[in-house]
Amino acid sequence: MENNFKISIDKDVSIARTMPSYFYNSKDIFNKSINSIFRNSWQFVINKLSINHKLFPFLFIEGLIDDPYVLVLSDKLKILSNVCTHRAALLCSEKSNGSTIKCNYHGRVFNLNGKLIKHYGFEGVKNFPSDEDNLIEINNFDWNNFIFCSKNPMFNIQNIFDDICKRLPDYKFEDLVCDEKSSNKYIINVHWALYCENYLEGFHVPFVHKGLNDDIDYSQYDTEILDHGVLQIAKDKSNKIYAHYYWIFPNLMLNFYDWGLSMNIISPIGINKTKIEFFSFPKKGMTQPKDIPSGINIVEEEDQKIVKSVQKGIQSSNYKSGRYSIKHEKGVHYFHLLISEYLK
Ligand code: FES
Ligand SMILES: [Fe+2]
Repeated sequence: MENNFKISIDKDVSIARTMPSYFYNSKDIFNKSINSIFRNSWQFVINKLSINHKLFPFLFIEGLIDDPYVLVLSDKLKILSNVCTHRAALLCSEKSNGSTIKCNYHGRVFNLNGKLIKHYGFEGVKNFPSDEDNLIEINNFDWNNFIFCSKNPMFNIQNIFDDICKRLPDYKFEDLVCDEKSSNKYIINVHWALYCENYLEGFHVPFVHKGLNDDIDYSQYDTEILDHGVLQIAKDKSNKIYAHYYWIFPNLMLNFYDWGLSMNIISPIGINKTKIEFFSFPKKGMTQPKDIPSGINIVEEEDQKIVKSVQKGIQSSNYKSGRYSIKHEKGVHYFHLLISEYLK
């Protein structure tokens, strides 16, 4: 990365300037962010209740990193590389209930721990098989059936889930089931970080989300910084909690409402192209409210419209960076600090 493209954000929000516009416009910085931030990030794989198979193949950040893995649900949950250790053929191509993992290319067989247990034609090959011939296993984290993985975790994700459990002691997380009909996917032409920044502040709510603003008591909107996470709490006009909005670095959002959980995953596809997935996990007997002025789909439209306008503005030769509101933008500031640390 060119030296004059260094990202440095002051830790003191009262003197800091926001992320410089070249962060959003430089292909080099974008590529570096993918390697330094996304490659080893924690990502959501699936909710266990959505699969009734033992083997579930998936790609790590599909469309960006695309590393093939297979989730193994046998005695112990495991996530193994889905690539044969011989000459890299893909192993599982679809969900199945196999008791072993077989390679269709030259017949190797692995057990569900990833150990090579059968091979053909390797007589006389020295030091074979060794550990390197087994499938690599990566870290997984199972929180009430929600499975996450990371190849090389940058932080302990458990802390954020402990915070969630502490604040929502009566929430039946283990009963949440994905409602595909209310889930949604968008591809929009914006930089991924612009989308996340917008999420990380409630500052824009009175201006951008009239419907939501009628529901919540904006004067009580609160933001807390966690380790690699940000929590925003909104209360309604009768002082009841309206939502807990958790963000986990860099791109996971867990929004807990009375009706259930809305999970958003923000995945860059290119420098100005981002996939946004919404997964709806209603509580038993409830559904996600729709088409009301404060409904998630309406709020999402309003957010996308404003973020698209920022995408245009950030490319202007007349914008370099701005200042933070200490009161309203500490979540955005923390996000920028984390990015600058990982890009060092
Ligand atoms: S690539 Fe799998 S056995 Fe050859
Ligand atoms: Fe918003």
